[in-house]
Amino acid sequence: MIHVHPNLQEVEQASALQRRLYRTIRETLRAMAGRLTGVAGWEAKKLLAHDVWLDAEHANGIRQRVLELRFPRVDVEVDLDHALLAVLDHLPSTQSDAEFLAGVYRVVKPEVLAAVERYLEQSDPLDDAPSHRGLRWVRDELREQLQQFASLWATVPPAEQAAAQPWEDWVRAALAEAGGVFGQDSGRPRLSRPGFSDRPRYEIPPEPQRDPRWLPAVTQVPPRPPRTPQEQQIWVAIDHMNEIWASELAGALMWHHRGLPWSLYYDAARWTYDEMRHAMMGERRLLAYGFDPGVDVPIVPDHWRGVGGRGGLEAMLFVVHGLEQGGPQWKAQLRSELWQLGDPYSAQDCDYDWADESGHIRYGQEWIQALYPDVPKARLIERTRQEVDAWKEWIAEKHRTGRHGYEAYLERIETKCSQMPVPPRPEFFRPLGSSAATASYATPDPTPAS
Ligand SMILES: [Fe+2]
Ligand SMILES: [Fe+2]
Repeated sequence: MIHVHPNLQEVEQASALQRRLYRTIRETLRAMAGRLTGVAGWEAKKLLAHDVWLDAEHANGIRQRVLELRFPRVDVEVDLDHALLAVLDHLPSTQSDAEFLAGVYRVVKPEVLAAVERYLEQSDPLDDAPSHRGLRWVRDELREQLQQFASLWATVPPAEQAAAQPWEDWVRAALAEAGGVFGQDSGRPRLSRPGFSDRPRYEIPPEPQRDPRWLPAVTQVPPRPPRTPQEQQIWVAIDHMNEIWASELAGALMWHHRGLPWSLYYDAARWTYDEMRHAMMGERRLLAYGFDPGVDVPIVPDHWRGVGGRGGLEAMLFVVHGLEQGGPQWKAQLRSELWQLGDPYSAQDCDYDWADESGHIRYGQEWIQALYPDVPKARLIERTRQEVDAWKEWIAEKHRTGRHGYEAYLERIETKCSQMPVPPRPEFFRPLGSSAATASYATPDPTPAS
């Protein structure tokens, strides 16, 4: 139906509203990516990584549209939105998972959704059709995010919800003070409230949090190669599930480095989600085989300890990049071996993981180039090799000296593996690490059987 009196909203206003929307989503997703390390609950971690990716897709679409709408300076720090950005920068300065989730999912995201709905109502679907198409996606996916969050929030104990309420109230009041998401920036300083507005800016912790249900561990790399086809399946699943560390690293880089070109954040958001997806592949296999992840097998950020503890995020970026360069070969080989073994599920996980890896190699190269623009390529390659070697030596030393913390896990794993069905074609079993490609995230060069 044609409306002869369409909604009136000038290009300048359309552009300004969407620019503010883009910046809200961008800075909120950076806060979510950074706070991923500080969040302990496993279900919350998965939700955050997933939504960091979706939000980056939303921000990217809106950004493209703003660029079409005669506002070419969308990314630069023009003297706009300062009050809004000051509030969003404070989002991760929280003292519990519940506080952080409440600020993002009970205040900011509902406001973004309301802004998108209002935009769709007050603008003309013909003149501004490209905005409408993009924002309908944002609206629908945001509604889904909020539904998924509602299920998670229902599992948060009422006392924790209540303890998070004052923080949530402050975020809501501070956002309103800044002018809200839909409208003009107030330009006012961040709303002052002792105990909330004066908390220090969030910094990436030296080691990421893990679910409180999971048992302590030292390293997730098993101290010996698998001896049976069933162990082979479990070794791959352990390796996969522990890729949480790489998701947290990509997210941490996004928070730690401010003011980089949008494309780097956009790529790292996908990286954050992909690695969490790989971890979820491992979780799904472990559950299918009757293992309780984090209890029967270790889930521990050993890369953060062994690499980050020594060289911080910087060293971990070189390690992830170095390991990922061997990823496609390693995962392709695993895919073929698991398929031959008769395990199509693990084979498919490796197949899709391998497809993601080529993107990750590019993300790593672009992040390294952005952070070290003046360092010659040969030195960057050398540094990558050194960092990977140091990581492998860290693991090897734990295995050599028996300080791998695996004894209790190994006992449970051996018991459960012996109860697993033998895969249909066990004659295709070749122990992991028996061939040249051993550059998984976790698995160093072949470890001699103990
Ligand atoms: Fe991965
Ligand atoms: Fe990767």
